[in-house]
Amino acid sequence: MRRRQILAAGAVATTMAAVAPAASAAPGGGRGPTQPPGDGTTKPPGLAKKDNLAFAAGSTLKIGCAVAGGGHHTDQDYPDPFTSDEPYREVLAAEFTSLSAENQMKWDHLRPAPDVYAFEDADAIMDFAEANGQVVRGHTLMWHNQNPAWLVEGDYSPEQLREILKDHITTVVSRYAGRMQQWDVVNEIFDDDAQLRLEGNIWFRELGTEIIADCFRWAHEADPEALLFFNDYNVDGINPKSDAYYTLIQDLLADGVPIHGFSTQGHLSIRYGFPGDLAENLQRFADLGLQTAITELDVRMDLPEGGEPTQAQLEQQADYYRRVVEAALAVDGCESLTLWGVLDKYSWVPGTFPGEGAATVLWDDFTRKPAYFAVQDALAEASGRAGHPALRR
Ligand code: XIL
Repeated sequence: MRRRQILAAGAVATTMAAVAPAASAAPGGGRGPTQPPGDGTTKPPGLAKKDNLAFAAGSTLKIGCAVAGGGHHTDQDYPDPFTSDEPYREVLAAEFTSLSAENQMKWDHLRPAPDVYAFEDADAIMDFAEANGQVVRGHTLMWHNQNPAWLVEGDYSPEQLREILKDHITTVVSRYAGRMQQWDVVNEIFDDDAQLRLEGNIWFRELGTEIIADCFRWAHEADPEALLFFNDYNVDGINPKSDAYYTLIQDLLADGVPIHGFSTQGHLSIRYGFPGDLAENLQRFADLGLQTAITELDVRMDLPEGGEPTQAQLEQQADYYRRVVEAALAVDGCESLTLWGVLDKYSWVPGTFPGEGAATVLWDDFTRKPAYFAVQDALAEASGRAGHPALRR
């Protein structure tokens, strides 16, 4: 049954593109003017099936996507995307070899009450991924955001909080032991001034920063196979914040803490320059013996009046996406690159950065932006599949 869903995926995108009326040939309204003719829409089924990012990537790296649900989605007027949007599910199954839980494995989702673990949505992602031959990145075990009210407003002693955190990490990681490729163990522990969030992070405030090592140790005990990561934003290039991680991680590794990876989220905007030292930055963590990953890539832009990106913006966006893929491919041990969403209608960007948007690689009707082709081409170049008939346009 699941298998049939995968096979149908190419067909859905194909049909939707094929029937898009010429009148909608504007950015955001359907096939953009840069969409080359014959982008797989006229290929025989066997080839169209391979006209995706997963095939282009081959064995170079896992190309992933966040699974939309929870978080900002709960305030929108559409139903839960992952469990109700079948064409979207088919795209997730066909295009990607890795999935991340956008919100479904965060505390506010998993822990509605102190004694309750609500695993249904997280399990559904894991089951879907396994049915489609995909790996999963778990996100996230310790963070200052999206914690439930009972926790942040609760009157717990430090000893109790430590027990709560240990129980959470042990229970959640054990549940997926042997099935989870990577976990973002601690998320965003440094602020924008490269200081540990001693006040803003409940765990640091109540338990001190030694808790970082405990989180990794508990997670490793619960699943010795999962690769355990630090994850943060604005650590794409070499800067004070990524320097802070570089120092902290060396100290923890020297203490024997089981840390396996450092990942940068990759929430970029064409408003800012491209982090040209991305590969160099990842490489220095690789040189410490770590894996690296790009975990939440999106490239947003200031939308002109009317909300439609200009051609120049789309091209600049495509260039950013391409350069991120090339940087990931250039670093040994960077084996996972995840897009933080694939459709703008489900993206967190418009709600978080007013006036900005269009950050993903597909239009809402599943047709492809220049950014999609940039990612596909960069992957295919590296995998040796460039020029494959399935990817010809
Ligand atoms: C975002 C989700 O995309 C939203 O749905 C939610 O409302 C807020 O969180 N860094 C992270 C992610 O580590 O978990 C965040 O995801 C985006 C920034």
